[in-house]
Amino acid sequence: MKRSKITLIGGGQIGGNLALLAAQKELGDIVIYDIPNAEGMIKGKALDISQLCPLDGFDSSITGSSDPEDIKNSDVVIITAGVPRKPGMNREDLLDINIKIITDVANNVKKFAPNAFVIVLSNPIDAIVYSFFKVSGFKKNKVVGMAGVLDSTRFKTFLAMETGYSVQDVNCMVLGGHGDTMVPITRLATIGGIPAEELISKKKLDAIVDRTRFGGGELVKLFGNGSAYYAPAASAIEMAESFIKDKKRVLPCAALCEGEFNIKGFFIGVPAVIGCNGVEKILDFKLLDNEQKQLNLTLDAVKETVRETKL
Ligand code: APR
Repeated sequence: MKRSKITLIGGGQIGGNLALLAAQKELGDIVIYDIPNAEGMIKGKALDISQLCPLDGFDSSITGSSDPEDIKNSDVVIITAGVPRKPGMNREDLLDINIKIITDVANNVKKFAPNAFVIVLSNPIDAIVYSFFKVSGFKKNKVVGMAGVLDSTRFKTFLAMETGYSVQDVNCMVLGGHGDTMVPITRLATIGGIPAEELISKKKLDAIVDRTRFGGGELVKLFGNGSAYYAPAASAIEMAESFIKDKKRVLPCAALCEGEFNIKGFFIGVPAVIGCNGVEKILDFKLLDNEQKQLNLTLDAVKETVRETKL
């Protein structure tokens, strides 16, 4: 089987971890692309990871480049180009600068990798993925934002921490935008198939929901000069793997809704099936009234940010 070509646009904190995880999972050959100023850093990361391959016995080729031609014919493109948050900033504060960057990136991807499946991580994700879609003209199934997988894994982590039960047996779903108005669906959180609501008091569950909502901010505060990178990278790799291996995983992703959940024309976190055709389907299901209300609120926040992109 021919190896997939995976291009990482942005070779910073998340980009470096994406390269490591993609290599360790032998997902394909990897190109780390960044601006000329960062060329030494990405070439260094690529070489360092290459030197780890013999230890694990994996055969991926990893290269670093600032020449857009080197992204040619990528099967998967994962975008983290942009600036991360600093303490006191919310994701929306990044919009102006990251919108310029995504426009440049979208033009390059359109030119050199027109058939790629594109996963966007740059924040504010819901607006940046929308911008990529508009500028590139890609089909909707080939463009998706990574947010829900990360928000859900945070929710799972806190549920496991609270109960002391294995993370493996925790299941849950976070829908909506990747901001403080995200919607962790507590009704659907289960531990070993048992509703979490039956195992944890309402007060504790509410506190977990809150910590999930502000999970990114908690890390920004701790780091002091950047945002999360390990879990975001692993979340995007889960999506890329489902595409490359046609696994058809059901993952909460920022996908373009065209009527699903009564949302039209916006990218927002919804359960999506990811297979070899990209986002193959959005699994629309009946939300309770209060859940739909919360989703509408998060949609308002997304609309507001998207409006500012002027696209
Ligand atoms: N093309 C390619 N790479 C670019 C471009 C561009 N036009 N502009 C900036 N970059 C690169 C930077 O040079 C840097 O190496 O993007 C990289 C971003 O890396 P970090 O600053 O380490 O940020 P990171 O923590 O990886 O987060 C990246 O993802 O989760 C979001 O909020 C986060 O928007 C941020 C993005």
